[in-house]
Amino acid sequence: MSFDKELIQNIIEEFKVDNENLQEIAANFRQDLQLGLKQSESTSLKMLKSYVSLPSGKEIGEYLALDFGGTNVRVSKIKLKGNGQFEVVKKIAKPLTSEHISSKANANDLFNFIAELIDEAIDFDHSTKFYLGHTFSFPSSQTNLYNAKLIVWTKEFTTAGVEGKVVNDLLKEALNHKGITNVEPVSVINDTVAVLLSTSYQHTDTFIGSIYATGHNTCYLEPSVGMILNLESGGFMKLTPNRFDLELDSKSEKPNEQRLEKMVSGRYMGELFSIVMNELFNEKLNCKFTSIDLSNIIEHEEQVKNLIESKLNKQIGEEDSKAIKDIVSAIVIRSARLVTATYVGLIWQITGSKEIVNQHIAIDGSVYEKMPLVKESINQAFNELLDEDAIKVDTLLDNGGSGLGAAISAAIASATN
Ligand code: BGC
Repeated sequence: MSFDKELIQNIIEEFKVDNENLQEIAANFRQDLQLGLKQSESTSLKMLKSYVSLPSGKEIGEYLALDFGGTNVRVSKIKLKGNGQFEVVKKIAKPLTSEHISSKANANDLFNFIAELIDEAIDFDHSTKFYLGHTFSFPSSQTNLYNAKLIVWTKEFTTAGVEGKVVNDLLKEALNHKGITNVEPVSVINDTVAVLLSTSYQHTDTFIGSIYATGHNTCYLEPSVGMILNLESGGFMKLTPNRFDLELDSKSEKPNEQRLEKMVSGRYMGELFSIVMNELFNEKLNCKFTSIDLSNIIEHEEQVKNLIESKLNKQIGEEDSKAIKDIVSAIVIRSARLVTATYVGLIWQITGSKEIVNQHIAIDGSVYEKMPLVKESINQAFNELLDEDAIKVDTLLDNGGSGLGAAISAAIASATN
């Protein structure tokens, strides 16, 4: 078969964010930030307090870091050496499966699994005292650095009995149950906060931290409250979804929530493409593409025919590979442009009427790190939005920041305890 050219063009148009849209989205995001700072109900940003500010870089000591919230759960032992120096002494990672994160699972299943991993990371030593920092990558409300309560699951996680609970209490219970009383969870931070702590431990001039991975979210240092605010920007709603976004949303675990995240993050881009394929083949195909497939399609046009054949059992014509690559590129470029518009809205807000200062935006995540077209699309959008000021802002990959940030937060918490 060969796809209808007009339909292809129409689909690509649906994913375009032109310069005018981009400016509008950045301005709307800034407005939501302003509303959020005034605690107005009409903002779509949660602006959650983290109870932590930027580190001094002098934090030292050995801490356990638990990183939960993406595809894998990781526990590391990290030695902070001060002067922005650190060493990962040990690291254990295991993939999360439906046994832990689907509605079949409950809080015990999940936290017992995590406690087992912690036990492995401390070499089953039940006497040495360890302080543990926990990067928990979901919207949580807290009144101190310890007592983060999960507001609502995102990224299609549905484990029963965790929403509304203090996650470190659940963790403590599981640790105690296993006789691990020497590990003391002392802090919980969002992964965006972890990335900001980690990068600013090593580089000054970093005030914004972001995750661009399975999920998406951004945090920043808000001077008026003297702490980092987790925006939960994946929940930004002032965007116009296209018909594919609407279909994805209606089938998701939490319809009408996390609009930005569902338009940009790794958990959803493959799914958007799957919905597009249903329309192109004009049938409900029972197949899910992942963001790794998208990355392969952009990088290896010559393999697209085989991929479609093996995944969908469909033959496509010669020109169709290029059409598919163009659609995937449009999905990815839209994602990067939307994310950048939110960064710029935030920079405008932080800067106010002053001059934009030279700064890094710390980003971690597989989409930022590995997806083709993302970095150049971010730069292009910065140029469009910031003109000559674009030179003052760059993005820094903070690979592993979720772990280091957790260790830094444990150092800060145990110093103030
Ligand atoms: C969560 C955020 C998290 C982001 C990246 C979102 O789904 O709500 O808390 O920072 O994913 O992991």
